[in-house]
Amino acid sequence: MSAPRLAQDQAILGQPGSRARIDTPALVLDLDAFEANLQTVMARVRAQGLALRPHAKTHKCATIARRLAAAGAVGHCVAKLSEAEALSACGITGLLVSSATPDAAKLERLAALAGRSPGLMAAVETPDQVDHLAAALDRAGHQLDLLIDVDVGTHRFGLRTPQEALAVAGRIAAHGCLRLRGVQGYAGHIQAIPGYAERRAASHACLALLGQVRDALIEAGHPCPIVSGGGTGSHDFDHEAGVLTELQLGSFIFNDVIYDSIELAPDGAKPLRCALWVQTKVVSSQHPGFATTDAGFKSFATDGPAPTIQAGAPAGARYDRFGDEFGKVVLADPTQQLPLGTLLECVVPHCDPTVNLFDQYHCVRGDRLVEIWPIEARGCTS
Ligand SMILES: Cc1ncc(COP(=O)(O)O)c(C=O)c1O
Repeated sequence: MSAPRLAQDQAILGQPGSRARIDTPALVLDLDAFEANLQTVMARVRAQGLALRPHAKTHKCATIARRLAAAGAVGHCVAKLSEAEALSACGITGLLVSSATPDAAKLERLAALAGRSPGLMAAVETPDQVDHLAAALDRAGHQLDLLIDVDVGTHRFGLRTPQEALAVAGRIAAHGCLRLRGVQGYAGHIQAIPGYAERRAASHACLALLGQVRDALIEAGHPCPIVSGGGTGSHDFDHEAGVLTELQLGSFIFNDVIYDSIELAPDGAKPLRCALWVQTKVVSSQHPGFATTDAGFKSFATDGPAPTIQAGAPAGARYDRFGDEFGKVVLADPTQQLPLGTLLECVVPHCDPTVNLFDQYHCVRGDRLVEIWPIEARGCTS
């Protein structure tokens, strides 16, 4: 974001009506909804007897990480090493790098980070990785805690069998600079199954495999105090399997269009509020039936459904992307026209990649812009 634009938005902080005067497009976080989501999930996770290690790949923001820690999170997951480096530089501790890396230069950086990031952990999946990481740690003179990553069905990362896990655990035990803390298994492929019952059954099948790996490790004398996994889509029932000790959910704080469209509760209730939207403005209105806004492909992730309009347009209107920089509001009434300057709030379709398009969260309460939070790990994809 340019400095003059940031200054313009900072100048209206706290003023009545300032929410409507934020320059557009802007990524807007409703603090009341964010806090409600956090309280809802934290209370549920506590009642389930589990810990929460939320995934920072979703928010990429040190201020949010601090809020989550203050609410009781035991740490934070990150998907990529550079996210860990960025958040660690802001003083965030207890980071788990949840994706393994075979890259030698990254293993050196991970070893270096271990010396300056208290509570750092990393996921590993092969014996070779373990050896290379141990060599890097020995060179750096640091130690690191590890989780073994188990492929519970997504097939993106992780080993598949208890035998493979025993081989990796044996290798970890051979290095004084490494300590095995447990296993991790994220069932990403089932998180957005629309039906609650079907998603629950699929998740339990995934967790059964994770439980087998944990049991084999414990039986062989390897410590396994942490079993980490779960996502927003499965957080209501993952505890039932008796396998996980902590949940890694990420999207729950925002509740995007994808999660808002699935059954998160068995009774059809909606436990989470949509807390994150892109605020955009009508910048051209030359045609009946539709208008051009200032938020397009560069303001919304394009891997998911269309954004949904939560405010600013008549019922039945829908949002289309209309090019890189622009969007289109299509009105249900083809004769109607939206006035120039009309403000729209569009719930983000998929939160993680949408967040990565912005430098800041514009945080609102009621009708006021109250804070602007930097997204420090924005663009950290390596
Ligand atoms: C390894 C891992 N854990 C947890 C999550 C969080 O999932 P969700 O955003 O569905 O809560 C993700 C998201 O992709 C992930 O990749």
